Amino acid sequence: MIYIFIALGILIFFIFVPVFGKKRSKVRYTLREEKGPYTLPEKFMWGTSTAAQQIETQQKTDWTDFENSAYKNRRFDTLAPGKAKPGHIHNLGAYSKEVIKKKTDHDARIEKDLALAKKLGHNAYRFSVDWARLFPKPGMSSPSKAGIAFYQRVLDACRKNKLTPSLTLFHFSSPSWLWQDTVKGWENPNTIEEFQSLTRGVAEHFIDQVDHWCTLNEPMVYVYNGYLDGVFPPLEQRGNPAKVAPIISNLLKGHAAAYHILHDAARAKNKEIQVGLTQHTRAFEPYRNYAVLDRITASIIEQAFIWDMLDAIETGHFAPKTGGARENIPGLAGTQDYVGINYYGRFYVKTDITRPMKFEVLMHDEHDPGEKINQLGWALYPKGFYDVLASAHAKYNKPIYILENGTADDQDDDKIRQSVLVNHLKEIYHVIKEKGADVRGYFHWSLIDNFEWAEGFEARFGLVKIDYAKNFKRIPRPSAELYREIIEANGVTEAIWRYYTALNEANG
Ligand code: FCB
Repeated sequence: MIYIFIALGILIFFIFVPVFGKKRSKVRYTLREEKGPYTLPEKFMWGTSTAAQQIETQQKTDWTDFENSAYKNRRFDTLAPGKAKPGHIHNLGAYSKEVIKKKTDHDARIEKDLALAKKLGHNAYRFSVDWARLFPKPGMSSPSKAGIAFYQRVLDACRKNKLTPSLTLFHFSSPSWLWQDTVKGWENPNTIEEFQSLTRGVAEHFIDQVDHWCTLNEPMVYVYNGYLDGVFPPLEQRGNPAKVAPIISNLLKGHAAAYHILHDAARAKNKEIQVGLTQHTRAFEPYRNYAVLDRITASIIEQAFIWDMLDAIETGHFAPKTGGARENIPGLAGTQDYVGINYYGRFYVKTDITRPMKFEVLMHDEHDPGEKINQLGWALYPKGFYDVLASAHAKYNKPIYILENGTADDQDDDKIRQSVLVNHLKEIYHVIKEKGADVRGYFHWSLIDNFEWAEGFEARFGLVKIDYAKNFKRIPRPSAELYREIIEANGVTEAIWRYYTALNEANG
């Protein structure tokens, strides 16, 4: 009998005592009495972000292999909107072979696309290099001439259109030849060496022209989606997060090596650069505030997914919260000149008291009538952006660049994207003013619609729509004009804020 009481006591304690962990917030925006304008700092970088595999012609990469095999084997399913099915690419069959190969036909339109960015008021542009375009074969001692010429075109177009370039070295895809071994991608320690060759090659040609560098895009998304969730190559589902710690460790080693290569190259030219990486962030909040286990788990996941890597970069010591060996990584400490943040909304963490090691991550709360979601069912949550920026500032006290923020909205009037723009930019204003965060730039994801990984071409993230059926025609959406106005005012004006508050209220 006594055991039953003890068990009941423990259960009640865990379910009802809200003392530990994070809390889910009812407030979705930072609302203050203060009137606009909500102006951002001088010399703010205003741009958009893109990635090679998503906009350029396919090269021989792990992703190209996945895309082509999904197409050939007609693997086009999805589990639910925004929930990719392992091994599938959503509705890829609805697009032609030409579209799958050329993606957005950016290769033929680099100059026009960047002239459009200028016309839309931008002063910066973030892009990534395709590793396989530069190193199509193993064992090459320097990058291919054609590959260098291609990115020289991008940089020339940036210069011509007065767009400050931000160059990302690794954005999810890598050459197929890195995937021949049984140990694949970044799990293979060889990849660290190869990444150094890539970095050397790119630095040798472009260090003079680029001041802002990002070594790795969202390494935890690469690891989580590829090795745990099975929706990115190598499509593995390992079950236990401790089993991916060695991959994260290799990514950290690659980052550290690239940081030093880039700085050495810059020093030799007597120039200053900024190098960092960018982390995918969400607000991880408990599904139920009264469930202590939801709250504790939300805190642990946030730490593991967002901060473990950034902490390791500060200290040189990698201590994964979800298991795996702790380790000191030589040369890693202090290898970020800025903190790179990509932010996409709120995730809810839901646990099951009978199986405490299992948890679900929900993209939105279907029982919350006030919740706003995007085309992929992601919960929009501007306040979480404030919180992430405040934490990044409190933890590291470094310049912060938003290297991605945006949303999927396929409607021609793109109201969701417009309110995401306004609301999130206003959060940046508040966090600078109230917490002293040193936010220096904002890159909207994305300039044009593009290939959204396992979501295929369906999820539309562009300020500019692409009509895939009409020869990749570019059609700016209303958000593109809104962003131009915001940039011109260097922030959100009172008039824009009022208009969009009304829009939000009208939308419930
Ligand atoms: C980020 C990726 C980017 C794009 C956006 C929507 O996680 O870095 O390539 O897919 O999401």
